[in-house]
Amino acid sequence: MSNESWGSRVGLVLAMAGNAVGLGNFLRFPVQAIDNGGGTFIIPYLVCFLLMGLPLLFIEWSMGRFGGRYGHHSTPFILDTMDKRRFWKYLGVFGLFTNIAVAAYYCYIESWALSYAVKSLMGVFGGMSQAEVSAHFDEYVGLGTNWPITFWILCLALNTWVLSRGLSGGIEMVAKFAMPLLIMFGILLAVQGLTLTAGEKGAINDGWVGLNWLWEPDFSTIWSPKVWLAAAGQIFFTLSVGMGTIQCYASYMKSKDDIALNAMSAGWMNEFVEVVLGAAVVIPICVGYFGIEDMKQIVADGGGFGLAFKTLPYLFNNWGDVLAIVAGFSWFGLLFFAGITSSLAMGTPFMGFLEDEFGFNKMKAALSFGLFILLLGAPAVIFFNEGVFDEFDYWAGTVSLVVFAVAEVVLFSWVFGMKRGWKEITDGADITVPTIFKFIIKWVTPLILIAVFIGSLDSIWDTIMFNKETGYLSKPENHNIIIMGRLILLAVYLGLSFLVYVAYTRRRKTGRIT
Ligand code: ALA
Repeated sequence: MSNESWGSRVGLVLAMAGNAVGLGNFLRFPVQAIDNGGGTFIIPYLVCFLLMGLPLLFIEWSMGRFGGRYGHHSTPFILDTMDKRRFWKYLGVFGLFTNIAVAAYYCYIESWALSYAVKSLMGVFGGMSQAEVSAHFDEYVGLGTNWPITFWILCLALNTWVLSRGLSGGIEMVAKFAMPLLIMFGILLAVQGLTLTAGEKGAINDGWVGLNWLWEPDFSTIWSPKVWLAAAGQIFFTLSVGMGTIQCYASYMKSKDDIALNAMSAGWMNEFVEVVLGAAVVIPICVGYFGIEDMKQIVADGGGFGLAFKTLPYLFNNWGDVLAIVAGFSWFGLLFFAGITSSLAMGTPFMGFLEDEFGFNKMKAALSFGLFILLLGAPAVIFFNEGVFDEFDYWAGTVSLVVFAVAEVVLFSWVFGMKRGWKEITDGADITVPTIFKFIIKWVTPLILIAVFIGSLDSIWDTIMFNKETGYLSKPENHNIIIMGRLILLAVYLGLSFLVYVAYTRRRKTGRIT
C-alpha cells in the first residue's frame, strides 16, 4: 500500500466520510442524546463540532499528507517527521493501538448487523413479540447458536479481503457503493419514522414528537459537565478523530492535493448522516410507539443495542409483512455498511505500518490485521456479557481518543508550530479557510481538549477503581475478567510500542531516518 494513492477525489472523500459515518452515528448518537437531555445535548454537541471536531479534522488531514510526503502512513512515524523527540513516536502508538482495539469489538457489532440483515430477509422476526425479539438478541450475544461466531468470522474475512485489494481496488470501491446505499436506506427509514401517525399501525405518537423532543433545548442542564463530556466524546467517536485513521488515509494523498475542502466535505457529510438521518430514525420510531419516558427506560436497560437490535425489529412488524422485511433489511444493511466502511479504515494504519517498516505486501499485511483482530476480539466476544466489550469501548474508543487528540494538537500547534501548520492546512486548498481557525487551533482547541481531559480524570479514576456509583462502567462483579481485559489492552499497547522501537532501530541502522 505504501506506493499507492487514491484513485479519485470522490473516492477519497467517500472513503473518509465512510470512515467517519459508522455505528456511532446510528447507535451511539441517539443514546447520547437520550441520556443527556435531548435538545440540551445538541448545543454542546454542535459547539464541540465547531471548536474541536473541525479543527482536529484540519490538523489530522494535514499531518497525514505531511507524513505521506516522507513515505510514512502510520502515526508513530508521522509524528516523528514533525518533531524528532523520541517520545512522540511512542505517543503515536495510540494511532495504531486505538484502531486495532476498537476494530476488535467494532467488527463484532458489524457482524450482528450483517446477520440481522439476513435474518430480516428470512422473515425471522415476523410475528415475534417484543419479549421474543429481546430474548432472541440475548440468546445471540450469549452465543446460544452458531450464528454469532459464523458471522463474526465472515465479517473479519470480508474486511481482510477488501483490505488486501488496496485503496482504490478495495476501500474506495466499497465506499462508492456503500455510502449511497446507506443514505438511501436512511432516507427510506426516516420517511417511515417521520410519517408515523398517532392511532395508525399501532403508533401512539406522531413521528414528529420524537424529533421535536430531540431538538427542543432545555437550558437547565446546559452547564452540566457530564453533558459536555458526553458531547465531546460523541464528536470524537463519530468523526474518528484522535484515532489515527484520518492521518493514514490522508498520507496517501498527493502532496499538493486539497485538504481544506476535502476535510470539510467529509466532516459535514458525517454530520448530515448523524444529526439528520441518525436522529430521524431510531428516536421518532421508538417515541412513536412507546413515548419518551418508556424509550428512555429501554435505553437505560439496554443502551443503543436495546433500541437497535431488541426493539426495532419488533416495531417494524407493525408496518405489515413486506414493509417489515424491507425496513429490517434496510436498517441492519445500513448499520452494516456504516460499520464496514469504518472498520476498513481501522485496518489501514496497522497495515501501513507493517508495509512501511517491515516490507509486508498488501496480502500479508491484511492477513496480519485480520488475525490480530480475531485474537483480540475473542475475549470481547466470549465475555461480552461480563463487560469486556464495554471495557474495550471505554479505554480504546473513548479515553484513548482524547489522550491522543491532546498530544497531537499540542504537537501541531505548539511544537510543529502554527506558522508551518497553517501553511500545511492551506496549501493547495480549494476554499479559503477562515483565519479565525488559526486562533481556534492554537488556543481554543487545545484548551478545551485539556479541560475535557482534566474533567474526565475523576470518572477515569472511578472506572479504574470499579466505583459502581460514579465510574463509567458498572460490572465490578466481574472484576477478574475485566482486569484480564485491561491487561490485554495494556499488552497490546506495549507490544506495538516494541514493534515501533524495532522499526526505529532498523531505520537508524540503515540510515533511513527522515
Ligand atoms: N466514526 C466511526 C463511527 O461513528 C468509528 O462509528
